[in-house]
Amino acid sequence: MTMEQVKAAEAKLLLPTYERNPILFTGGEGVYLEDENGDKYLDLLSGIGVNALGYAHPAIERAIAEQSRKLIHISNLFFPPGQAVLALRLTEMSGMDRAFFCNSGTEAWEAAMKVARAYSGVLRGEGKTIATKFLAISNSFHGRTFGSVSTTYKAKYREPFGPTVPGVEFVRFNDVEDLRAKFSSDVCAILLEPIQGEGGIRPVSQEFFATARELTQSTGALLVADEIQSGLGRTGKWFAYQHYGIQPDITTVAKPLAGGLPLGAMLCTEEVARAIHPGMHGTTFGGGPLACAVAIAVIDEIKAARLLEHVTAVGTYFKEGLIALKKKYPAIVEVRGEGLMLAAQLDSAELAKSVSTEMMSRRILINRTDETVLRFLPPFLIEREHVDATLHAIDEILIGLEAESTGLMQETVSQGGR
Ligand SMILES: Cc1ncc(COP(=O)(O)O)c(C=O)c1O
Repeated sequence: MTMEQVKAAEAKLLLPTYERNPILFTGGEGVYLEDENGDKYLDLLSGIGVNALGYAHPAIERAIAEQSRKLIHISNLFFPPGQAVLALRLTEMSGMDRAFFCNSGTEAWEAAMKVARAYSGVLRGEGKTIATKFLAISNSFHGRTFGSVSTTYKAKYREPFGPTVPGVEFVRFNDVEDLRAKFSSDVCAILLEPIQGEGGIRPVSQEFFATARELTQSTGALLVADEIQSGLGRTGKWFAYQHYGIQPDITTVAKPLAGGLPLGAMLCTEEVARAIHPGMHGTTFGGGPLACAVAIAVIDEIKAARLLEHVTAVGTYFKEGLIALKKKYPAIVEVRGEGLMLAAQLDSAELAKSVSTEMMSRRILINRTDETVLRFLPPFLIEREHVDATLHAIDEILIGLEAESTGLMQETVSQGGR
């Protein structure tokens, strides 16, 4: 099928949930994608933070080939090969004790919410004064299913589907006073992304995170960290909360976990796991043998290739380059992020749109989030030369757009003078 045929068929047949970019990708290798014409694109989006090992990585190919010959699905009524090994890897990396596997980020978050509510029930049963309210954070994004969307801030995601899950209150991002004011024994958990992703790559402040930890500890409520975008090495540590030296009670991962196959996990402490017994929660596909085999291969490759160190080094280089561009262009309002989870906030949504569109026409894929923010979530494999090409392209585009607007201004002035 050609691009036009696919477009026409999709327009007729699919629920219109996405406005797709007009490129038909047919392959990829390393940090490059290839379209139907054989044109190569430098990918700084990696399927929204999923393809940490880029495309056609031999470790992933090998794991898929080997496991698919043995067993792809067996259900959680038996022992899916790989789950225990993967749980061991993830609990060691995260400092948690137990894992629950599912198929996506939003399912991991649903599990976290359900476990938090169930745990509050255990505490009530033991005579503690604790209710069932969740405190979520403004500008958060936790997914599209009902629990997740109820804790997701922006009205456009939530309101068309109301009434959403009751018992959620939002706290202003990084506003410690608001957090203290809204916290009470009514709260069963504080839910946050240590670095907000869709909300514009915004790290929580040390003070806000530490206050959330202190408040929850004072009542037995839980601190739940969504690391679906920031986790598994993207920030240069396995988990973004490790930059803060704060250990949550529950965390969630997904995106890069199984190299592009759907797999999510909720990780929690032994104490929290007391709330769950056989039959309370589950999934048909979650933690299947194929996804687990690939996830083990992905984690082992990140370790073997020392990619955490690489992400830190190349991420620092990238961030410094963006900061240098910010000094040159007042239109860059702020540079944020950690490792290879980076952003440059521009001063208008139109400008951010123009820059990301122009980058695409130069065959570099980036993404715009929260209207004005250019987001960079490249594969962990990018090198300085790819960063240089990206910074150079942004520089040229901003010079061009500046010259265009100066030209337009001069034209307006000279027309006004006529
Ligand atoms: C922080 C965060 N939580 C949850 C999700 C939802 O994950 P999924 O799209 O796999 O359901 C996302 C997706 O972008 C995310 O960035």
